[in-house]
Amino acid sequence: MIKSISKAKSLRGEIIVPGDKSISHRAVMLGGISNGTTEITGFLEAADPLSTLSCYRAMGIESKVENGKLFIFGKGIHGLQKPSSVLDAGNSGTTMRLLSGILAGQKFPTSISGDQYLNKRPMKRIIDPLTKMGAKIASTEKYTAPLNISPVEKLRAIEYELPVASAQVKSAVLLAGLYADGVTKVIESKQSRDHTERMLNLSTEEINGKNIVSVTGGMKLTAKEFIIPGDPSSAAFFVVAGLISKSSEIIIRNVGLNPTRTGFLNVLRQMGGRIRIENERVVAGEPIGDLIVTSSELKSNLILQGDIIPNIIDEIPILSIAAAHAIGSFEVRGAKDLRNKETDRIVAVCKNLRAMGLTVDEFEDGFAFDSKNKLFNNNFESFDDHRIAMAFGIASLALEGESKITNAECVNISYPNFWDTLQILQH
Ligand code: S3P
Repeated sequence: MIKSISKAKSLRGEIIVPGDKSISHRAVMLGGISNGTTEITGFLEAADPLSTLSCYRAMGIESKVENGKLFIFGKGIHGLQKPSSVLDAGNSGTTMRLLSGILAGQKFPTSISGDQYLNKRPMKRIIDPLTKMGAKIASTEKYTAPLNISPVEKLRAIEYELPVASAQVKSAVLLAGLYADGVTKVIESKQSRDHTERMLNLSTEEINGKNIVSVTGGMKLTAKEFIIPGDPSSAAFFVVAGLISKSSEIIIRNVGLNPTRTGFLNVLRQMGGRIRIENERVVAGEPIGDLIVTSSELKSNLILQGDIIPNIIDEIPILSIAAAHAIGSFEVRGAKDLRNKETDRIVAVCKNLRAMGLTVDEFEDGFAFDSKNKLFNNNFESFDDHRIAMAFGIASLALEGESKITNAECVNISYPNFWDTLQILQH
């Protein structure tokens, strides 16, 4: 589907963004290996978390939807069953990487594969620590999926310092740690999203500026209720939409405000973005609140690098749109891992920003440009990547005339109603 988007006169209204993708994956994964029935409110019914659910279904975990809630009938830590075919993680890196941690501890062999994009993404980052724990994982020569995971007698607890700042790697090791003898520790020098440790109630400590998370093997998991907040990474698109469009005010209710995820709000405020947070509260262990966003004259002159990068890793494409519509310079460094996302997001962002008329320098670990906010509409390529499609869809709202986004249906990965919501806000 090619999506056409015209310049918006004004965006107004109140919306709720769908449930957090990271938390939705984890709620299903933990629910299936807990004892009892897990009740999930706000589960993200989008392609990625549905991949996790279907992998679990293939391993004998049943679920039902009732009154808008998802119930997972957990079978305990050793309750998964051998699937009859290859597990399909679709486009979802989180499914493949986190699930591999659980699969490494099973008493049966499994194979897990994904679509053409996922099967090109690096898996060495999880194969290495899981192998140190005693897991047997075979991959392609390039350390990509399909992964074939063989059963082992027992996993060993390890202490592992993450070589890449990645919540997916941290979580894969912690989940494997549930099946290991002893206490597994993951050490990270740059804090990444902490949903796994919150949801498992793990102990965390900070020593010499490093974050250390511990999990004890064999710990009993009891089913809980999860109330999933709106995904801040999805809200980010409408926050930027409200800031860059004239005469606009958007209210976004019930957005997750976990501090490991909200770096983008600080960046946008530094650019002069008028964003208010109201009704801040903690629901089921996660801070949430309402965001009120008003049109703003943005100025950038920012270099984003260092510790903030893991916090804003999924928001860099949409932050680059805010910067393109601002006056000033914008540079992202230390974000090489953007090349390993659903697509190479450095290439995708640079190509589409150039199509808007910007001169963009591309680096191995980021990109830079100077904007005078003199941009033009064009045909933008989604690269079949949901966040690229949404970012340039939002960019188009403040460009003269009509722009187009290719393969715009890829928003189904994390935000199936994205284009309808955008339509509803236009006045
Ligand atoms: C995620 C972690 C991040 C993020 C992804 C979801 C998670 O990936 O980009 O969308 O749920 O743990 P990395 O851990 O690879 O940075």
